[in-house]
Amino acid sequence: MSSEPVSVMVVEDEPVLRGMLETWLKKNGYRVFVAADTTEAERVLEMANPQLMMLDICLPGESGIDFLERINPTYPQLGVLISSAEDETSTVVRAMKLGAFDYIVKPYSLQTCLLAVKGAEERWQLRTQMQRHQQVLERTVTERTRQIETVQDTTVFLMAKLAQSRDDETGMHLERMRFYTNVLAKRMAKASWQEIDEEFLLSLFRASPLHDIGKVGIPDAILLKPAKLTPEEFETMKTHTGIGSACLSDAIDQVPPETAGFLQMGHLVTRYHHENFDGSGYPEGLKGLQIPLAARILSIADFYDALAFPRIYRPTSVPHPEIVAMIRKQAGTKFDPEIVEIFLEVADEFQKVAQRLTD
Ligand SMILES: [Fe+2]
Ligand SMILES: [Fe+2]
Repeated sequence: MSSEPVSVMVVEDEPVLRGMLETWLKKNGYRVFVAADTTEAERVLEMANPQLMMLDICLPGESGIDFLERINPTYPQLGVLISSAEDETSTVVRAMKLGAFDYIVKPYSLQTCLLAVKGAEERWQLRTQMQRHQQVLERTVTERTRQIETVQDTTVFLMAKLAQSRDDETGMHLERMRFYTNVLAKRMAKASWQEIDEEFLLSLFRASPLHDIGKVGIPDAILLKPAKLTPEEFETMKTHTGIGSACLSDAIDQVPPETAGFLQMGHLVTRYHHENFDGSGYPEGLKGLQIPLAARILSIADFYDALAFPRIYRPTSVPHPEIVAMIRKQAGTKFDPEIVEIFLEVADEFQKVAQRLTD
């Protein structure tokens, strides 16, 4: 606690009383400001921002209680002590509702006034301490939550990375997926896509690396085959969506629903990232808006990245303008045409992500 004297503003229109209170409170160690009406009082508040205010109700012009009501939102820290000749219950109630600490009725002795000011000072100190304590607590909780989220996120990312390491020709694919989907979804949010809020963006960022986690269940002979898959092999490859989403369903069952946010999105992207807008995809052949939004976003990013970098079955990458043309061409068949429109606006940013996070 600082050793600075506590400051009190006395708002009192009666000059003799005002002078007496000023002298008396100064004598008792307070730093005192005085005001004869609410205009003066407001000026003092602005300039000196005192800790306490002893406020008379009956003032020329604006009444003390109306003044209190008006300045309350701007000076929530101010400790208020009401002083008035008017012993009226409704005014007391109004003052207390506005957060006043106490109420003294005129005429009062200087001793009574001092006790009331001291009481207000104690309550003010207590309230200030509690607020500081509360702030420290909130900061600690926020910091801890952030730490837990970072550890969680890193663990999940490492798991996805581990799954991906079997066909590690794709290098930084998972890192890039986070940024492609983020760029696209952010622009969609700007274009007032209702479903996309901060939480959606964060979940998508955290969940997108999980999309191919089910590939752990695909045999090497198929996963690492440096040629086109046979129809049977392709059928096996398709099961990665089911394997991955089943794992995530199990994980979701293990955690409280309110903490399952990004796992739920992980489940959606894992299961539905190979669905096509016209219903020709897998595993369920969902059509149009039946396909979860996150999966419709991610499938464009996944397609872009698959072509922007060499793959085991295709040793050279496809130039950016060609990929953009291919995505545009498949609007309405493979991809959601409205999302393709947005993609075309941010295609340059996709290229930048690819250049920044090269394998
Ligand atoms: Fe996949
Ligand atoms: Fe992928």
